[in-house]
Amino acid sequence: MLSRDDVLSELGIGPAWRLREAPEPSGDSHPAPHLPVDWTWERLGDAVARCTACKLSATRTQGVLGVGDRNADWLIIGEAPGADEDAQGEPFVGQAGKLLDAMLASIGLRRGNKVYITNVLKSRPPGNRNPEPDEVAACRPYLLAQIELIQPKLILALGRFAAQSLLDTDEAIARLRGRVHRFQGVPLVVTYHPAYLLRNLPDKARAWEDLCLARRTMQSL
Ligand code: URA
Repeated sequence: MLSRDDVLSELGIGPAWRLREAPEPSGDSHPAPHLPVDWTWERLGDAVARCTACKLSATRTQGVLGVGDRNADWLIIGEAPGADEDAQGEPFVGQAGKLLDAMLASIGLRRGNKVYITNVLKSRPPGNRNPEPDEVAACRPYLLAQIELIQPKLILALGRFAAQSLLDTDEAIARLRGRVHRFQGVPLVVTYHPAYLLRNLPDKARAWEDLCLARRTMQSL
């Protein structure tokens, strides 16, 4: 399980409870966020709402932190908010969200009940383009803080982008599915993104296998 020291070291801060020192002015128009280390949900929500750590802050409507049970066993991680999520401030509220809810229901889960849903990126990339590495890096402390606060038992990574960025690999999703990985010590199962499944119906059977693997893994914990 992610320790407080892991989060501190990820943030580049020593184990003493200090704020990071202000960086020297570098001409960087998107400096790393000056984050408090003793996270609370209120601080985290505030930090995401005000975040200007990457260029997406200039084009998003709002930061989208996540939704659901803050004591969840299941942490579901997608890619980034789309247009609907950017407008409404909640992850997975469009067509892909409807399918995600159905996928969760198929294994007896419901958004908000032991389930928390978020994305690797908290801001919408314009035109739904792929997230860029500097954007992922800037958002990472927020995801780590969410894991620290929630202490989930299992992570379900939705789609190639979330899987590859969480597992820091270029491996194809076909090779990442079907086994249990770990992220920050938490078991992680990979499945297809619901938006992909809407366009590739035959792969729903494979997604069902992934969900069964995730459920079995959860039951064995
Ligand atoms: N796709 C994602 O990856 N996340 C969302 O919140 C919506 C669509």
